[in-house]
Amino acid sequence: MENKGTKPAIVLFPFPLQGHLNPMFQLANILFRRGFSVTVIHTQFNFPISWNCPDFRFVQITDALSENEASNPDVVELLHDLNSKCADPFADCLRDILSEESGASCVVVDALWYFTADVTAKIGISRIVLRTSNLCSFVPFAEFHVLREKGYLPLQESEAESPVPEFPSLRMKDLPWIETKDPRSLDKLLSSLSKALQSSSGIIFNTIEELEMDSLYQIHKKFPGVPIFCIGPFHRYVSASSSSLLTQDMTCVSWLDKQLPNSTIYVSLGSIASIDESEFLEIAWGLSNSDQPFLWMVRPGSVRGSEWIELLPKGFVESLEGRGKIVRWAPQLEVLGHGATGGFLTHCGWNSTLESICEGVPMICMPSFGDQNVNARYISDVWRIGLHLENKIERKEIEKSIRVLMASSEIRERMRKMKKTAEECLGQGGSSYCTLGNLIPHILSL
Ligand code: UDX
Repeated sequence: MENKGTKPAIVLFPFPLQGHLNPMFQLANILFRRGFSVTVIHTQFNFPISWNCPDFRFVQITDALSENEASNPDVVELLHDLNSKCADPFADCLRDILSEESGASCVVVDALWYFTADVTAKIGISRIVLRTSNLCSFVPFAEFHVLREKGYLPLQESEAESPVPEFPSLRMKDLPWIETKDPRSLDKLLSSLSKALQSSSGIIFNTIEELEMDSLYQIHKKFPGVPIFCIGPFHRYVSASSSSLLTQDMTCVSWLDKQLPNSTIYVSLGSIASIDESEFLEIAWGLSNSDQPFLWMVRPGSVRGSEWIELLPKGFVESLEGRGKIVRWAPQLEVLGHGATGGFLTHCGWNSTLESICEGVPMICMPSFGDQNVNARYISDVWRIGLHLENKIERKEIEKSIRVLMASSEIRERMRKMKKTAEECLGQGGSSYCTLGNLIPHILSL
C-alpha cells in the first residue's frame, strides 16, 4: 500500500541491544535509499544517544521495565521481560500507525521480538524478520531442541572437544548456549523464535551467502516456503552507524594516526560479554608482553566487580609509555578501517566479525557465549582468517597468538581474499546486490 505521496511506507522495530540496533538502523537506511518512508518503533530502554536520522519518523512505546529488570545480567530473562512488556504497547502503536493515511503493508522486526508473530497476525499485517546473526550459527540455534534432546547441551565438560555429528565443523563446546538461571527459559525462547520465524513473510540476514552456502541450504530445508534474503554487509551500503548507545571516543583515531601501518591490535569484547578480574589481568599482561601497540576498548561494567579499569596494577598504564591506549567505547568501524590496525582480538559477535572481514583485519577469537563460539570456530577452522584462544584466557597464550597473527602472511592473504568477496557481493551482479533487488519487490508485493 502506498501513502499519499509516491513513497511506499515501512515500519521497523529494532531490538534494544547494540548488536541488534546497528544492523536494523543500517537496514532502515538501505530501505530509505530504495525509496521507502521509514517509521521506527522503539522502546524507552536503551534509546540510542543520537540517531542522526532526520529522515525517519520515531515512535516510542512504553516498555515499563523496572530498574532491576533493565539491568538484569541474565540476558534470557531480559529478552522474555521485554517481549512480555512490549506486546500491548507495540500492538496499540502499530494500530495507530496503520490507521493513519501513510499506512504501511509490512513490518520488519528483529527476530528476538517473538511476540510480534501473534500481534501482526491479529492485526493482519505482513512481518519480515531481521536475524542479526549469520547463517552458520543460526542453524544450530534453529535445531536447539534436537541438540538438547540428544543431551549435547548443556555441555558435558568431558565431551567439550568431541565433534558434533550433525555439524562436522563444530565441536561440542562450540554449540550455542546462553547461561541463565533456568535453562527451560532458554528452551522457551528458542522455540518461540523458531515458531515466529516459520510464520514470517521472509528472513533477512546481514551476511554474504558465498561464505555460508551449506548453512543456507540447511535453512531453506528447515524453513520451507519462507524466503531468505542474505544482503550483507549492511554497513557497506550506508555511512557509519548512528545508533551507538555509548559515546564513541574519537581520540582513538588520532592515536592510531601515530602508529605504524598494520602494527596495532584492537581489542573489544562487544556490548554484552563480561569477564572476571583474573581474565582482565591476563588480557592486560598478554597485551603488554606482546610488545605490539594496542587499542583496548574496556566497556564500563564489563569487568565483573569493578567500574572500569581500576583493577589494573598501579603503574601499568604508565609502563606502556604510550604503546597502549584504553578507551570506554570506540568508533569501531573507523578503528577497523584505519591503516594502523593490523589485528582484532574479538569476542566474535557477528557484527564485529563482519566488520573485520570487510576491512581485511585478521582476528584472534575470544568468544564468550551464544553464537560467538560458532563464529570463532568458523573464523579459525573453516575460513581460517584468525586464531582461536581455545582454553582459559591466559597471558602467555594471548602474547603468543598476537605474535603469530602479526607474522602470518597466510592468514592475512586468506583475509584479503575474503575482503574481496565482501566487496564483490555488493557490486552489480553480486549475490547481495541481486538478493536486495529481489527483496524490494517482495516487500512491495505484501
Ligand atoms: C551481541 C552478541 O554478543 C553477538 O554474538 C550477536 O551476534 C549480536 O548481539 P555484541 O556483543 O553487541 O552482539 O557484538 P557485535 O555483534 O559485534 O556488535 C557490536 C557492535 O557495536 C558492532 O557493530 C560494533 O561496531 C559496535 N561497537 C563495538 C562500537 O561501535 N564500539 C565499540 O567500542 C565496540
